Amino acid sequence: MEVVIATPDELARLAAGAIEALLRSRPEAVLGLATGSSPLPVYEELIRLHHEQGLSFARARAFTLDEYVGLPPEHPQRYRNVIDHEIAERVDFSPGAVQGPDGLAGDLPAACAAYEDAIVAAGGVDLQILGIGTDGHVGFNEPGSSLASRTRIKTLTEQTRADNARFFGGQLDQVPQHCLTQGLATIMAARHIVLIATGRGKADAVHQFVEGPVSAMWPATILQHHPHVTALVDGAAAGRLQLADYFRSTYAAKPVWQGL
Ligand code: F6R
Repeated sequence: MEVVIATPDELARLAAGAIEALLRSRPEAVLGLATGSSPLPVYEELIRLHHEQGLSFARARAFTLDEYVGLPPEHPQRYRNVIDHEIAERVDFSPGAVQGPDGLAGDLPAACAAYEDAIVAAGGVDLQILGIGTDGHVGFNEPGSSLASRTRIKTLTEQTRADNARFFGGQLDQVPQHCLTQGLATIMAARHIVLIATGRGKADAVHQFVEGPVSAMWPATILQHHPHVTALVDGAAAGRLQLADYFRSTYAAKPVWQGL
């Protein structure tokens, strides 16, 4: 795992730069998109690159990580709507190129299985953007999730619902209890994983994710078994890393040709 400690602006440029390099070399690449606040600066940078540098998504496809169960189609916090608003409709993806789990399906297990099939049929995810929850979740794989899980229904923890209440006008009772989420094994199948964490509230989760023992109690720790993970963290989120000085000096000495 590579850990880069930098300012939020620099992290956004690095993550967007990795996506840009991928799309310029393979325009038909498959992206994995996350919702939440962490990737928003990355999406802003991608939109800028699209408008100012001609970066095209026209041949690319994308899969989102997760979706609330039961939010009505027009609800602004439905992740399908969030991803459309934050990135999909602001670049030149082809119609239908961005897919997400269907939290309104009549048969949720069948929708989850169909979603797994769709990712496989697309050839798998080339680059997956991730955030991390304060409880160590990736996607909505909450503590206790099977490390071998696939897309399925999950119950959100009270901690995650409280964290996400800010998107629902601060009203905890408006945050759904259930979600569909790619499983940890689904996420692990992506060829490159770029996880973004900013702010002091993520410091414990980042410490466990990078330096803790692999455990379902901190689901992100499964990523220690992945051969190509880039953790992009700001100084506050890196605040509990024992190896922070090592990560800083390693990145400072990194050869320019290497990329992420
Ligand atoms: C969102 C997702 C979640 C978030 C995580 C962090 O699609 O899968 O794992 O990435 O809850 O959320 P933020 O970035 O809002 O702190």
